[in-house]
Amino acid sequence: MCGIVAIIGNQPVAGRLVDALKRLEYRGYDSAGIATLYESVMERRRAKGKLFNLEKLLSDEPLAGTIGIGHTRWATHGIPNETNAHPHFIEGVAVVHNGIIENFSELRDELTAGGAVFTTQTDTEVVAQLVARYKRQGLDNRAAMLAMLNDVTGAYALVVMFADDPDTLMAARFGPPLAVGFGRGEMFFGSDAIALAPFTNEIAYLVDGDCAIIHRGGAEIIDFAGNPVERPHQISQATAFVVDKGNHRHFMEKEIYEQPEVISHALSHYVDFQTHTLRANDTGIDFGKVSGLAISACGTAYLSGLIGKYWFERYARLPVEIDVASEFRYREIPLSKDQAALFISQSGETADTLACLRYCRDEGLKIGAVVNVSESTIARESDAIFPILAGPEIGVASTKAFTCQLAVLASLSIRAGRARGTLDGADEKQLVRHLTGMPRIMSQVLNLIQPQMESLARDLSKFKDVLYLGRGTSYPLAMEGALKLKEISYIHAEGYAAGELKHGPIALIDENMPVIVIAPHDRFFEKTVSNMQEVAARGGRIIFITDEKGAAASKLPTMATIVLPDVPEIIAPMVFALPIQLLAYHTAVFMGTDVDQPRNLAKSVTVE
Ligand code: F6R
Repeated sequence: MCGIVAIIGNQPVAGRLVDALKRLEYRGYDSAGIATLYESVMERRRAKGKLFNLEKLLSDEPLAGTIGIGHTRWATHGIPNETNAHPHFIEGVAVVHNGIIENFSELRDELTAGGAVFTTQTDTEVVAQLVARYKRQGLDNRAAMLAMLNDVTGAYALVVMFADDPDTLMAARFGPPLAVGFGRGEMFFGSDAIALAPFTNEIAYLVDGDCAIIHRGGAEIIDFAGNPVERPHQISQATAFVVDKGNHRHFMEKEIYEQPEVISHALSHYVDFQTHTLRANDTGIDFGKVSGLAISACGTAYLSGLIGKYWFERYARLPVEIDVASEFRYREIPLSKDQAALFISQSGETADTLACLRYCRDEGLKIGAVVNVSESTIARESDAIFPILAGPEIGVASTKAFTCQLAVLASLSIRAGRARGTLDGADEKQLVRHLTGMPRIMSQVLNLIQPQMESLARDLSKFKDVLYLGRGTSYPLAMEGALKLKEISYIHAEGYAAGELKHGPIALIDENMPVIVIAPHDRFFEKTVSNMQEVAARGGRIIFITDEKGAAASKLPTMATIVLPDVPEIIAPMVFALPIQLLAYHTAVFMGTDVDQPRNLAKSVTVE
């Protein structure tokens, strides 16, 4: 999603703005730009595509100035090109914006009728036009900013720079995140703490309805009516993390290989590795008392929630209502106050997930957040935070956040089972023992399958369509496999419940569509094998991801069989996630796509 940075300091800012934008690259973007103010003149450089295009432009035509704003744009209104790239300039007002101005076409018509000339297709330009109009009408900068904020509706984070004031930057938030960074003699705005990490770790997050005004010496925060408000300063952890690929080719590869380590970290928050029991930390949600659980999330996070549903229902006999957040928020689901709701989000900023959270909160449910970014909006608006502790995930395709979400959901389902009396102490010990053995098994698996995944990826890259099948928790995993493959290799892929094969997708089976079957030797194995037989009988090519027992039990011919160790059922989704991640990764690498920043995708989707 779009990224924003702004600096007001005492040294040239152009290079620093670009460096900060690089740290926001992980959010996804298709053009970028910066503007600075020097001796009362605002100038900008903008470029379509990746930041190196902007850097090249800046090396040919540098920008001076100790105050400036920068932006990476992920196109919503108007194609990605230089004209639509931010910052937008109107009569000495420069604007960068993340989000959507919903009433932009009414405003645009009104401004056009008043003589304004629009030069871009963006919704953002109305912000600059409105501020410029109010200034023309005689309002000072602050009043013009507030007047504009009272005109626009939608979800936005924006920063405004004024050519007639080299000592001030103004920003506002209503939806997408925006943070104020406090330095020594210099101040910042940034979409997140990661962008500001090289400059400062002292952060104040704006909340919806905040307008912030920064000078070199500090910040003033007001509401849209102009009344002062206070926001707490926090010391961000983002500074501690080096956003670096290490010895890996891509962040995604690094993040896949980090999983054993980060899962240990995540688990140690919930379970005691020595006693194999759950930690007694207060979760904020009494699973023993709730009548049901509502879960909502988007994309990969939704699929982890779907696996969580199997666990909560099986181990805790707790009914779970789950849907993707974009549907959940509009379904008018009858909910009751004795239910709890869980929202799963790596970024903690996904607009649809946040909207569901607010809906459930208004309905009186207890809210839990399963998040990676503990300072995020979703975390801050929840009664209970269940951190997944995966560390910053930079690759747009989620990998380690997925398995850490699963580790947390598995732990919570055991906790729920104990609280509801469906699991006893011995069950708890056994399940926790399985979880604590998982990081070691994941390390073994990563080493074991790497060469096979690389060579299989070469074969897979020749196909245009791929089908993934699974039963039980392997069904959401099949959907996750398909999602990973399509988002980074651009090969069309679908994930299906294996039992649904004969209700439609079987019509597609031929030698041109490989079928990836995820089937540990579990309760469903025999049934999945009979679906494989249906595929084989129609000339379909099978890539069989199974365990040692499964490989021994099936005699069907396959295009490839990936054999993992036999593992307990509760950890199978995390262990079986590894081959599907690596297969997608190597296929994309082989095809030469932009693995870490696939086309059209954003890491943090802060618009609806
Ligand atoms: C896919 C992927 C997305 C995210 C989804 C939710 O690899 O990363 O599907 O899972 O956009 O994002 P968060 O978890 O930040 O709410």
